[in-house]
Amino acid sequence: MRKELSSDLKKISPSMTLAVTAKANELKAKGIKVYGFGAGEPDFDTPKVIRDAAVEAMEKGYTRYTLVSGLVELRKAITEKYKKDFNLDYALDEVLVSSGAKHSLSTVLKTILSVGDEVILPVPYWVSYSEMVKLTGGKPVFLKTKKENDFVVTKEQLESVITDKTKAIIINNPSNPTGVVYTKEQLEAVADVCVKHGIYIISDEIYEMLLYDDTKFTCIASLSEEVKDISIIINGCSKAYAMTGWRIGYTLANKDIIKGMNTIQGQMVSHPSSISQYAAITALTTDQSITYDMVKEYKKRREYSLKKLDTISDISYIKPQGAFYVFIDVSKLYGKVYEGKKITSSVEFCSALLESKHVAMVPGIGFGDDDFIRMSYATDMDTIKEGLDLFEEFISELK
Ligand SMILES: Cc1ncc(COP(=O)(O)O)c(C=O)c1O
Repeated sequence: MRKELSSDLKKISPSMTLAVTAKANELKAKGIKVYGFGAGEPDFDTPKVIRDAAVEAMEKGYTRYTLVSGLVELRKAITEKYKKDFNLDYALDEVLVSSGAKHSLSTVLKTILSVGDEVILPVPYWVSYSEMVKLTGGKPVFLKTKKENDFVVTKEQLESVITDKTKAIIINNPSNPTGVVYTKEQLEAVADVCVKHGIYIISDEIYEMLLYDDTKFTCIASLSEEVKDISIIINGCSKAYAMTGWRIGYTLANKDIIKGMNTIQGQMVSHPSSISQYAAITALTTDQSITYDMVKEYKKRREYSLKKLDTISDISYIKPQGAFYVFIDVSKLYGKVYEGKKITSSVEFCSALLESKHVAMVPGIGFGDDDFIRMSYATDMDTIKEGLDLFEEFISELK
């Protein structure tokens, strides 16, 4: 007889986005064409200039251990980006590179949380936040935001959930799943409350370069020195440079936090792949049109998708200003029947849509809101056109 596995495993659930991708892959393996709007990753190849930098690094023999916090040259490139883009001054020991933004986040949580500490998660939240907090021994405190407020947290809402156990809030700006981008004033409202109570602001800014309609992005740490001191900025190369598989994420925070993260990361994983780190230096320092060219494509897909969604009755959404998602309210359709089955939740909606029309979207419940489903437009235009036609057909067939 084998011993039981960790009790921590019972506290968490697998990622809903990965589950949809797995089901869609199952259909694909059977030779069925699937219209994939599920995955949260760019469909572009990593730009050639970045791939070439990796090959060069290998050829030059840069294949050994690096510093735990990441190559000096990479951290320098990161600090220079923050100076140039946000006029922020970070020292090299205020930056740490990890194996993807997910790894940055989990290392941050391990560094700042003690058992029982509370972390505020505005709902809808990115799927992994709640599970990461639980795995670290913390307690997620869900704070429901309002669609009428563009899903942005207000001062009053935030004040209402703070206790003496509150350690941090995690905001995601631009947001996955809503695509909403906080204005400077909205960030100031959140920051004021956090400064007053001494709560860390973990700001996941991984989609910061993917913006539309002249939307201006404000890095929360740029609000003031006081705010910067309690801000923990998470960013990375996955989304901006189509480098999801390379696993490069990074954190900018005060020296004490970075020192703590360094100790934990040093014992757990050392550092991300040296080759990926060299590739990331090029990503950050080369002409940034590599990203803006991708944004141009996302923009076309977004415009098409929103126009099409506008023609479908009984659904609604908040216009996304960043990232590559639309969070669609389908709750008006709950109670209707598809092929004899009553649809009453986002999981039932997405399952019926996938099984009948082979269109993959993600149930909103994974992000804490069962009234919605998430569509990703990080896919080619033909898939978007055909897939959204099928989505419309599915809705029209609901009785
Ligand atoms: C909001 C958000 N944060 C972090 C990540 C993870 O990024 P990485 O692939 O660099 O770990 C994702 C990926 O989907 C994301 O959507």
